Amino acid sequence: MSTVDLEKIISLCKRRGFIFQGSSQYGGLQGTWDYGPLGVELKNNVKHAWWRRMVYERDDMEGLDCAILMNRLVLKYSGHEYTFTDPMVDCRKCKRRYRADQVDPGEKCAEGGTHDLTEPRPFNLMFKTTVGPVDDDSNIAYLRPETAQGIFINFKNVLDSTNRKVPFGIAQIGKAYRNEITPKNFIFRVREFEQMEIEFFVKPGTDDEWHACWVEDRYNWYTQLGIQPGNLRKYVQKPDELAHYAKATTDLLYRFFPERSDENKQFDEVEGIANRTDFDLTCHSKGGKLVLKDGRVIPNEHAVNRLTWFDHQTNQHIIPYVIEPSAGVDRATLAFLMDSYHEDIVEGETRVVLRLHPDLSPIKVAVLPLKKNHEGIVKTAKEIKQTLQKKCGWRSVYDDTAGIGKLYRRQDEIGTPFCITVDFQTLEDSTVTVRDRDTMAQVRVAIDQLPTHLAERLGTA
Ligand code: GAP
Repeated sequence: MSTVDLEKIISLCKRRGFIFQGSSQYGGLQGTWDYGPLGVELKNNVKHAWWRRMVYERDDMEGLDCAILMNRLVLKYSGHEYTFTDPMVDCRKCKRRYRADQVDPGEKCAEGGTHDLTEPRPFNLMFKTTVGPVDDDSNIAYLRPETAQGIFINFKNVLDSTNRKVPFGIAQIGKAYRNEITPKNFIFRVREFEQMEIEFFVKPGTDDEWHACWVEDRYNWYTQLGIQPGNLRKYVQKPDELAHYAKATTDLLYRFFPERSDENKQFDEVEGIANRTDFDLTCHSKGGKLVLKDGRVIPNEHAVNRLTWFDHQTNQHIIPYVIEPSAGVDRATLAFLMDSYHEDIVEGETRVVLRLHPDLSPIKVAVLPLKKNHEGIVKTAKEIKQTLQKKCGWRSVYDDTAGIGKLYRRQDEIGTPFCITVDFQTLEDSTVTVRDRDTMAQVRVAIDQLPTHLAERLGTA
């Protein structure tokens, strides 16, 4: 089970170029993070692993990539203008603002004593901007707070252009923006993040079964990519916890905070799988309506299409129900980093190793020359690196900036599954050593056999 705390991960991420504070050159911008050379590879691998499994390995999915800027009406009829709020309180003493459910009134205030908090009031989390040169209310648009709404409003476009039949799903990966009151815990709660979302359209009446299938499918995706089952939980939301659009939601919770003494508080959401019924397609339909939790009804006076599907079996237009597995890319990336982090003792020294699934490792192969000033060794090593990266498509590096032991440790720390060492024997018999990150075992392999040998061991053969 993972016991690494966030501080170690943050330090590793900064030191090795996974993740940096956003705008750090100017003192930072709270709630934003920049992914460095290794971070972008890791995050891309998380997204590719999701897309491959959710789109390519199924027969019932299409992809989509919608605009981030959305017409205000999308987020009016979705309910976000009315309800996408968090309760906010201000401390009259220190003038700081907090999310009401995240501040303890008995907590120490920077100005001395405890906080003097105002009553909670709703704060809308959407980032507003204006479109075009005229800065007035009629030109307001929002940066999308979730990728989901872009999928709902494109339901008919996708249906008509692909001739899909229900059940089928639409997948999208992309940025989302939320003006979180208190962004915190590294990339766990941020103001700009990415989501991997599926809206899966099903016939009403089959929704409970599909919901259960998706919960299993999504849980298995994490564990098959290496997350230890003991660190991942399914949490069925209680009726009073459900969002206004959901009939049922199961959250997948990861052990992001192992340092907390209360075990339940160690876990927090990495993904939610909701049964959204026909809520969204109804509220975005011509002639449809948005029904809010407080009973208000907002008739849709602007949509141009009815978002229905014609069921030839029953000769009826139906509004499909929607199952929505919605994952955060950044939270998933953090979970994979935390879960793979290990400290071993090797020859009396601590070895940090990220035991990442090879599909996720930022670098697949490191090619290391035993002697950096030997022309033959260096030339061969560089050629191998080029071949593996260009021809086999594996992100590879060449490194000669330290002794071999140190180079191995550096690669272990960033999760590189294989190191190839080019030595004097290579020049005689065209073989190299291939070292395994997890076992540290080394085998001798002919250079021309490397693509097949590594493909098998990386699981890409
Ligand atoms: N369309 C449904 C939806 O957006 P959500 O629970 O608000 O549901 C889905 O978000 C996922 O997006 C979460 O499980 C989490 O992984 C990620 N997420 C949400 N807010 C986030 C934030 N401020 N920072 C990082 N990730 C966030």
